[in-house]
Amino acid sequence: MTYTERSGCGTLAPSDVGSAVQLAGWVDALRDHGDVLFIHLRDRSGIIQVVFSPKFMSPEDCTLADSLRNEFCICVTGRVIRREHNTENPNIGTGVIEVVADTLVVLNRSRALPFSISEKAMVSGAAVGGVETVGEDLRLKYRYLDLRRPTIQGNIIKRHKINKCVRDYLDQQGFIEVETPMLTKSTPEGARDYLVPSRVHPKKFYALPQSPQLFKQLLMVSGLERYYQLARCFRDEDLRPNRQPEFTQLDMEASFIDEEFIYHTTEELIVRMFAVGGIALSAPFPRMTWQEAIDTTGSDSPDIRFGLRLVELTDVLTNTSYGILQQVIKRGGIIKGINIKGQSDRLSKNVLQNEYAKKIVPSFGAKGMTWMRMTGGRLESNIVQFFSDEEQQAIITRLGAHDGDVLVIIADASHARVNKVLGMLRLHMAERLDLIPREVHCPVWVTDFPLFEVHGKNVTSTHHPFTAPDRTDFDPNDKGALAALKSRSYDIVINGEEIGGGSIRINNIDVQHKIFQALGLAEDEIKDKFGFFLRSLRYGAPPHGGLAIGMDRVVSMILGTSSIRDVIAFPKNRSAFCPLTEAPSAVSDKQLAEAGLLEAVGVGWVDGKKVVKFTP
Ligand code: AMO
Repeated sequence: MTYTERSGCGTLAPSDVGSAVQLAGWVDALRDHGDVLFIHLRDRSGIIQVVFSPKFMSPEDCTLADSLRNEFCICVTGRVIRREHNTENPNIGTGVIEVVADTLVVLNRSRALPFSISEKAMVSGAAVGGVETVGEDLRLKYRYLDLRRPTIQGNIIKRHKINKCVRDYLDQQGFIEVETPMLTKSTPEGARDYLVPSRVHPKKFYALPQSPQLFKQLLMVSGLERYYQLARCFRDEDLRPNRQPEFTQLDMEASFIDEEFIYHTTEELIVRMFAVGGIALSAPFPRMTWQEAIDTTGSDSPDIRFGLRLVELTDVLTNTSYGILQQVIKRGGIIKGINIKGQSDRLSKNVLQNEYAKKIVPSFGAKGMTWMRMTGGRLESNIVQFFSDEEQQAIITRLGAHDGDVLVIIADASHARVNKVLGMLRLHMAERLDLIPREVHCPVWVTDFPLFEVHGKNVTSTHHPFTAPDRTDFDPNDKGALAALKSRSYDIVINGEEIGGGSIRINNIDVQHKIFQALGLAEDEIKDKFGFFLRSLRYGAPPHGGLAIGMDRVVSMILGTSSIRDVIAFPKNRSAFCPLTEAPSAVSDKQLAEAGLLEAVGVGWVDGKKVVKFTP
């Protein structure tokens, strides 16, 4: 059998009426009308109704048609006709035509399915069984069937188109796609490594890359000038809904550039990617420093689709007689509030006091919350009497309060805690009160991150240790000076989700060395972990910088899927397990021994068979 004449089911159109066609695909759904059998035949291009009738087929083929069941793989030949008036099916793209079959070949049968695949009803107005109630692990166990569903298959095809648009654009801009090693040495991106034992080098391990960071920098030292890769990255970290242990980055790096080049190139790319999904974004994207993001939204991934900005009140309440706030001010703390505009009717005293102040806010990590409502030009709450008239007026003015507004205030000795809790409260209120416009995409650059996170003696990189600091004259042992350093880094955030990030890098060996020292790495450790990289900086490393975009996240956002797993062909489940292959799985002692992970302690013979005994 040949398929050279084959047409795509979904490509047939009224202009094909009268044509003879060959089709091959899967039985999506069946409707038996006694003598006549109707099926939906599905291939990658779409669905067409095929009619099997004894009028046009041999008795043998009619008997064969009777044996058809869902997901049998078949080939038919037939003729395209227009459907009779009132039998059109608006559920499918080819709903005004159908194919009357004259031959049928069953290419392969299918067992009864573990869940329904069909998404299109055969008659107008009828319902189809969705997979919403099917457990995700069952879907992942039979992922090859799940991927037959047009929705999920469509996601994978769209992802391909987004990848292609990325490749086309970067190629036009002179970027070269280079593959970097998977079996490599640890790259510090803040997660644990997945390790691969070496057979040839017993007790030694490769690490799977957390990102191609060091290799892309080495490619700049090599003079490639502009690099990109749709790179697989591996991170053993606590799973969250938008994380996978294995994910894909659009990884980029360029030499002789500055931040503006990265902003411009990335914006162009993101605009083009979203356009593939029919979403128009306009560049340039707004920018916010990290400090501004934290101060106004309490988050370094600000969701700017809605207001509810954080406003500082410390200065207007410096002399307050309200004991709790007085204490906070004395301890160098901070008081901040949010005006939840016009929501007084939806946030009752009971909700504010018993839900938010007593439960929700403490669960976010603050001791409590003060709330007030604006009515008749005055503030109203259980604590207003503790504020003087001037203080009340100052709060009203600072927060721009009007009748019907609700003001929530948090005070704490820790500035970070106030920002964090108010940031969480901001998101909670916005969700609860449905203040987030759903069809909108608001990108924003977050810049000028602190270079380091300093907790007591512990210093870690906010991004990674190859990020250039805003100044290089720092003392690596002065924790205060380290905490004050900013980095030349940038994150791209859309709707409160970090989509990508990067930085201008260090290309000076002394500065790089100082950063490692600041991170508390001993000389031996620096040499052992990064010697190969530091060495490269001695050979005329050019100024360079780059960025990586999380492709799973961005594609999921463009396609509006509820999980990044819906845009990955073979994802792991929520516990980093693959229900399809059952990976990770145990391996035999023999394999462990080959990898040098077991010591052979004895060889003997049992029932004529050689037995090797191992011990870890
Ligand atoms: P970073 O660690 O910020 O940067 O990663 C870049 C982007 O990758 C995505 N991402 C993930 N997506 C799915 N699952 C995960 N577990 C996961 N972890 C990260 C995010 C993130 O913004 N080497 C640097 C980039 C650079 O400096 O050029 C890096 O990897 O969308």
